[in-house]
Amino acid sequence: MRFRVRSGFVVAVMAVTAIASTATRAQEEGNPERGEHLANTCLGCHGVPNYKNAFPNYSVPKLEGQHREYIVLALQAYRSGERSHITMHSQASSLSDQDMRDIAAFFSREPLKPDAQPVGQAPEAAQVCVACHGQNGVGITPQYPTLAGQHADYLERALHDYKKGGRKNAIMGTFASQLKDSDIRVLAEYYSRQRPALQTENRPSTILTADND
Ligand code: HEC
Ligand code: HEC
Repeated sequence: MRFRVRSGFVVAVMAVTAIASTATRAQEEGNPERGEHLANTCLGCHGVPNYKNAFPNYSVPKLEGQHREYIVLALQAYRSGERSHITMHSQASSLSDQDMRDIAAFFSREPLKPDAQPVGQAPEAAQVCVACHGQNGVGITPQYPTLAGQHADYLERALHDYKKGGRKNAIMGTFASQLKDSDIRVLAEYYSRQRPALQTENRPSTILTADND
């Protein structure tokens, strides 16, 4: 009897542990349904093709196909101020880490995979970049951003920000500081031409589709 109680207890503990680890994995991967609700305001900019940041003028980045983990890291960097951008700072400030994971799961259901052939000849300045961003612009780990098909003017802006300190990232600060402005333009254009490409979010929010119902 005592034995039975104990083994029942052990089985129960194991079951609880299994449920807990499933829950943790689900939390880490994020809940796209919850993310969809949280992402309504985001789509006002990230869901509009070729939408521009006003001052200075450059394209709002594409997020569809981006790595989930990277999206979370980028949002955390806007929240902490490591990336200085007033709008994205105020957007990210109200989000918890779990909110960010859920939004990222919604935005990036099918991240691009690093298996395609590069489009065109990689410029010489890209030799150091491909180790992390891949020949065809798909980040080789989930923490490295995919650049393939991203707006060239946004990539250029980001590289200048790493170079001048508007984005304080130790890895990219080092690489960007070694680039001439002319290299930055060539690299941004090369990566923006790569396929398969990142896309503007094409799942309009309920607010944007309300008129069609
Ligand atoms: C008013 C327009 C606007 C809204 C609303 C907005 N964003 Fe942004 N977002 C931008 C702009 C512009 C940038 C580029 C900022 C920069 O230069 O670093 C950006 C950058 C990002 C990036 C970084 C992308 C990359 O490749 O590094 C992520 C991730 C992101 N936004 C997610 C969100 C999420 C999630 C929301 C909603 C909670 C949101 N944005 C709301 C305009 C907006
Ligand atoms: C050792 C790995 C590594 C190398 C090499 C590297 N990068 Fe990066 N890159 C990163 C990481 C990590 C980030 C994200 C940094 C952050 O959180 O802002 C990044 C971010 C970027 C971004 C911003 C993307 C976005 O969506 O905002 C651009 C553009 C970029 N890198 C281009 C380059 C170019 C061009 C080179 C070569 C000159 C290069 N990188 C070399 C790791 C690397």
